[in-house]
Amino acid sequence: MAAHSPQNYVPLFVMLPLGVVNADNVFEDPDTFEQQLKKLKEIGVDGIMVDVWWGLIEGEGPKQYEWAAYRSLFELVVKIGLKIQAIMSFHECGGNVGDTVNIPIPKWVLEIGQTNPDIFYTNRSGNRDQEYLTLGVDNLPLFGGRTAVQIYSDYMKSFREAMCDILEAGYITDIEVGLGPAGEMRYPSYPQSQGWVFPGIGEFQCYDKYLKADYKAAAEKAGHPEWDVPDNAGTYNDTPDKTEFFGANGTYLTEEGKFFLTWYSDKLIEHGDQILHEANKVFIGSKTRLAAKVSGIHWWYKDKTHAAELTAGYYNLDDRDGYRPLARMLSRHYATLDFTCLEMRDSEQSETAKSGPQELVQQVLSGGWREGIDVAGENALSRYDSTAYNQMLLNVRPNGLNKNDDDKHEMSALTYLRQSDELFTEANFKLFTSFVKKMHADHDYEPNFIHLTPLKRSKHKIPIEKLLDATTPVLKPFPWASETDTPVEE
Ligand SMILES: *[C@@H]1O[C@H](CO)[C@@H](O)[C@H](O)[C@H]1NC(C)=O
Ligand SMILES: *[C@@H]1O[C@H](CO)[C@@H](O)[C@H](O)[C@H]1NC(C)=O
Repeated sequence: MAAHSPQNYVPLFVMLPLGVVNADNVFEDPDTFEQQLKKLKEIGVDGIMVDVWWGLIEGEGPKQYEWAAYRSLFELVVKIGLKIQAIMSFHECGGNVGDTVNIPIPKWVLEIGQTNPDIFYTNRSGNRDQEYLTLGVDNLPLFGGRTAVQIYSDYMKSFREAMCDILEAGYITDIEVGLGPAGEMRYPSYPQSQGWVFPGIGEFQCYDKYLKADYKAAAEKAGHPEWDVPDNAGTYNDTPDKTEFFGANGTYLTEEGKFFLTWYSDKLIEHGDQILHEANKVFIGSKTRLAAKVSGIHWWYKDKTHAAELTAGYYNLDDRDGYRPLARMLSRHYATLDFTCLEMRDSEQSETAKSGPQELVQQVLSGGWREGIDVAGENALSRYDSTAYNQMLLNVRPNGLNKNDDDKHEMSALTYLRQSDELFTEANFKLFTSFVKKMHADHDYEPNFIHLTPLKRSKHKIPIEKLLDATTPVLKPFPWASETDTPVEE
């Protein structure tokens, strides 16, 4: 950040409604939308975040990209003077918490899945999840000769070309690369569409033939041809103790279980690393930053099994930091770690879920800062109340307003979920206005606060052993105040 920046200012973005470009790839109601954006601009909001759906843009056929609706949208946002965080959304919209619109992945990909359903993440009984391609096909040329990673890369190149002038003008401050379901770098371990309900532990999703073969090969190489993917980890809505895998003296504590969990979580890190590397090659030299989203799996965080995190691919235990290796991987791409559930307090959660959103946020943010990367984030659920705003303000500046720039930990940005008609009702908007002001530490809006430099080439690949060095020792999070010193004014 530039030295002359207003002290303690943290930019605030607003997530656009899911259907802003509708399921037919049409920017439906620009006029209403423009009125709302102007209101956001007036109160000092820094920018917006928006999903750029693969299923819409490349919906017609391979490499047949249609950007017209998004061009109009981006031009309008720029005209109003807001910045853009663009999500490369390679996942389906629908089937997850808060999804009100249904946008599947491209039809021509789903058709390939009809003859080869193993291109999708699969649970133990063989149920396919069509939200996102399994990372097992990242490097297999199953899509008209292209691999999944090539498809993602081509898509990002097309985006860069379509938005070239807007990128060059520095309006697209962040490119968040979708790395899994809901745009999050995780496995689809807790799909509502398959009957998962909070706070079920979820399921491993490594039973497509590609991931199974990969695991068999890894086990064989490790001298254990008899090991196989788990068959005792229960079903979506189990509690940890109901399963052999997570139960007392469970499989997860054995040599075999540890080997599996390491493989499962390493695959996810390598998936993110490879696609971010492609993103880096595409956007190198552009005035933008890369980002990846990590999901806030706060349920069972206070259980020693951390079962829900483990099924999602975050191998995090009380004696193993599962998040810092991700942050270290992101560091070589100069990428921002975007985390969720910033608004949640432990006291709002039921005891039975052994939920610990506050401790989880502190762990992940601290890990990011220790790895020297920018950490940003968002709230998980729609909220319009001061309790939620104040919790976000606390996490944005855990030590409060700080005159000394050297030893402070501060988030680089926050994205508020999300723009809706409800946000613009008088009482809600009044409180939100105060929230924006407090995010800016009572400074006025500063157009040049986000200082972008041309994206640098990714550093050398960090070998997985070096990434895993970050799993131990598990360090305490940095100190955190119990309440924000910049609460919203009601
Ligand atoms: C797999 O998914 C199906 C369909 O959603 C579900 O009924 C089943 O419980 C899941 N898990 C297993 C292990 O069968
Ligand atoms: C778990 O293992 C410990 C130590 O080996 C043993 O004392 C304990 O009885 C075991 N618990 C169960 C439920 O098997």
